[in-house]
Amino acid sequence: MPEYRAGLQDVIAGKTANSFIDGQKGILYYCGYSIHDLAQYSTFEESTFLLLHHRLPKKNELEELDQALRNARALPEDVLDILKKLPRDANAMAMLRTCISALGVFDRNAEDHSEENQLRIYTSLIAKMATIVAAIGRYRAGKDPLAPRTDLTHAGNFLYMLNGKEPSPDEARALDVALILHMDHGYNASTFSSRVTISTLSDIYSAITSAIGTLKGPLHGGANQRVYLMLKEIESPEHTEEYVRQKLERKERIMGFGHRVYRVEDPRARHLRDWAARIGKNHPHISTWLDIQQRIYDTMVQLKNLYPNVDFYSATLYTALGIDADLFPLLFAVGRIVGWCAHVKEQLAENRLIRPRAEYIGPKGLEYIPLDKR
Ligand code: COA
Repeated sequence: MPEYRAGLQDVIAGKTANSFIDGQKGILYYCGYSIHDLAQYSTFEESTFLLLHHRLPKKNELEELDQALRNARALPEDVLDILKKLPRDANAMAMLRTCISALGVFDRNAEDHSEENQLRIYTSLIAKMATIVAAIGRYRAGKDPLAPRTDLTHAGNFLYMLNGKEPSPDEARALDVALILHMDHGYNASTFSSRVTISTLSDIYSAITSAIGTLKGPLHGGANQRVYLMLKEIESPEHTEEYVRQKLERKERIMGFGHRVYRVEDPRARHLRDWAARIGKNHPHISTWLDIQQRIYDTMVQLKNLYPNVDFYSATLYTALGIDADLFPLLFAVGRIVGWCAHVKEQLAENRLIRPRAEYIGPKGLEYIPLDKR
């Protein structure tokens, strides 16, 4: 029997050319390009092309994908009707899972895995993920969903659909960078779910629905929401160190810290911290939060030698962008949908059913006793 590793830690479960992570050095590449260069120079649309095609686009290719994404933004009325039947106060990730699953039901060609049809579905899902999340945000706030605009970038249009006003160029760019940073991350739990589902040759919508169900948990996509609650709870910088110490003494976790792969600071964290500071300079409580976060950072490094992950500063940036904390895990999906699609595409290109084995630890050969004799 091969060696068993709890939580599949450090197990190589497959191959990918989508992203490379060096957890010791804090390095992340998408298809060979440093995340720092992409965060500085690329856009959501261009990085989407990169992950789907494993190369940077030429000008006309980028324009073509950009236009296809804009054209695919609007939701079928039937899906909006389903959203409006869900309880307003239901878990927001459960609403997202339901709406994405519903999209698949209305796609008559969902089962066709030809390359052309796959690309149509990826484009549609990447575009509509943002529209659905914005619609969920407005519905939960008791407002009508807004129709997407085709004259704005993917990130700019998302903020418009959610907040009902056009974002400033800085706000749109801050979200653009956050979405790039969330696009892909090796065989993380939700991506692995999507690969397991598509490896049965199920449909792409089912694979993405599986991924959303996996992302929903607080150890994965739900952590940024908990960071928000922690910052609200700490409230003032002087309480920070004591708060962290007490939590650690009670053996509780500090959300937004630690990572299965990184042993140093997550390379995505600094860009989110910088953008949170830039967007938050006009929001008085964001600078207080950044002060609290610096103190949490220092205390965690000193006491546990643990560093922040991607969720630690995304909570602050999203708050500065006027996004409700209930939607934070959904924002993760608006970026990660690109990686999920890239992995589903990669899996379909060289598919082999993902089906590991378990080490059986229960009893064997028990004598069956009839019900009336037990
Ligand atoms: N706060 C406090 N202690 C933490 C911690 C955190 N956020 N993350 C890890 N640790 C500690 C564990 O208690 C454990 O300590 P011990 O050996 O003294 O018991 C040690 O670090 C290893 O933790 P473990 O849970 O085995 O690591 P993992 O690889 O399974 O966990 C995470 C990775 C992400 C699940 C974990 O770091 C975590 O729960 N973080 C908080 C949630 C979060 O931010 N998730 C977003 C990930 S992008």
